[in-house]
Amino acid sequence: MNVVTNRASARVGITEAFKADKNPQKVNVGAGTYRDDKGKPYVLPSVRAAEKKMFELGYDKEYAGITGVPSFTKAAAVLAYGESSAPVKDGRVSITQSISGTGALRIGGEFLSRFYPGEKTIYIPTPSWANHRAVFTDAGLTVKQYRYYDKTKIVLDASGMLEDIKAAPNGSIVLLHACAHNPTGIDPTQEQWKEISSVIKEKGHFAFFDMAYQGFASGDTDKDAFAVRYFVEQGHHVALCQSFAKNMGLYGERAGAFSLVTGSPEEKRAVDSQLKILIRPMYSNPPINGARIASEILNDPALNKQWLGEVKGMADRIIVMRESLKGALEKLGSQKDWSHITSQIGMFTYTGLTPEQVDRLAKEFAVYGTRDGRMSVAGMTSGNVEYLAEAIHKVTS
Ligand SMILES: Cc1ncc(COP(=O)(O)O)c(C=O)c1O
Repeated sequence: MNVVTNRASARVGITEAFKADKNPQKVNVGAGTYRDDKGKPYVLPSVRAAEKKMFELGYDKEYAGITGVPSFTKAAAVLAYGESSAPVKDGRVSITQSISGTGALRIGGEFLSRFYPGEKTIYIPTPSWANHRAVFTDAGLTVKQYRYYDKTKIVLDASGMLEDIKAAPNGSIVLLHACAHNPTGIDPTQEQWKEISSVIKEKGHFAFFDMAYQGFASGDTDKDAFAVRYFVEQGHHVALCQSFAKNMGLYGERAGAFSLVTGSPEEKRAVDSQLKILIRPMYSNPPINGARIASEILNDPALNKQWLGEVKGMADRIIVMRESLKGALEKLGSQKDWSHITSQIGMFTYTGLTPEQVDRLAKEFAVYGTRDGRMSVAGMTSGNVEYLAEAIHKVTS
């Protein structure tokens, strides 16, 4: 066997360097997990309450079925598609639990690789979440890219995106970040989503949504599901990947779902059965604990209300941190336009910093981010945001 070592991701390197740094003012804006205003991991009180309830109910540890915990997947579909969604009501949505969002993407990739009738090419945005390419390539799809981000203006390259989607051969698969695009933090407006939907329809493309941040973008789970619900209303038979890592803080619990909107209950049953055939040899059945927590939260009206408030609390803290960072940079006299920090959405801001500037931040200020200039706003706190602004100001002026 000849195995070559390759660093799995730049993020691992950042975490190691951050841990080793002795500077007491060090800041980690490289991680993709939410932190509270003290910089500590946050377990949602609704999650703790669900766990307590589960303990009291004395659940057993038997295996779930291949497609997971039914009360969880049923509620996850309603959360994503909405109470009044026609395909949910008509029993046309095939859904399975997955190993969080990554597992959902892999199941979706494998499913399309086996059954997609057209060319098995998926178009992902430039840039996209770093793992998309590997997940889809390993699933057997060809990965191509469409323009998404205008580097010079730090905005959505809407015309480039539409041009590239139009130029793709009819019947291509198009991956769309449903909300809080990672890494740019830039989402299409509702009007732009409508245009994207009509181009995808005209071209006979297939929309594949990755929704890893429902509720995290705006603080409102319905608002963040706009794109998915609009596409479905327009008759698209979408695929959808859901993750409960961020919006419930269930990172290591690996709770997620993959679903496909089909044309009829018969087609749904056929998809259900093929998903089982596909999943069984991969991991037999998914873990139960995170799905049960999410199920308690989604199905218990009081816990659900509490959770929605906590999601909004996380989103609001991020919005406040964006304003604080921008305000602090302006107070320091920075002449650069930092308006993108507050116009972007979700966990990340794409600062527009160059790789060299990011390197200087680490070396001179113990501020660790990824070299593409992405920073996790969730890593900012009222205690470190001014120091961070000073560091950014120094490397950009
Ligand atoms: C866009 C996007 N998709 C999917 C995921 C998958 O996350 P997980 O597998 O932890 O649910 C992430 C995580 O950062 C993400 O940013």
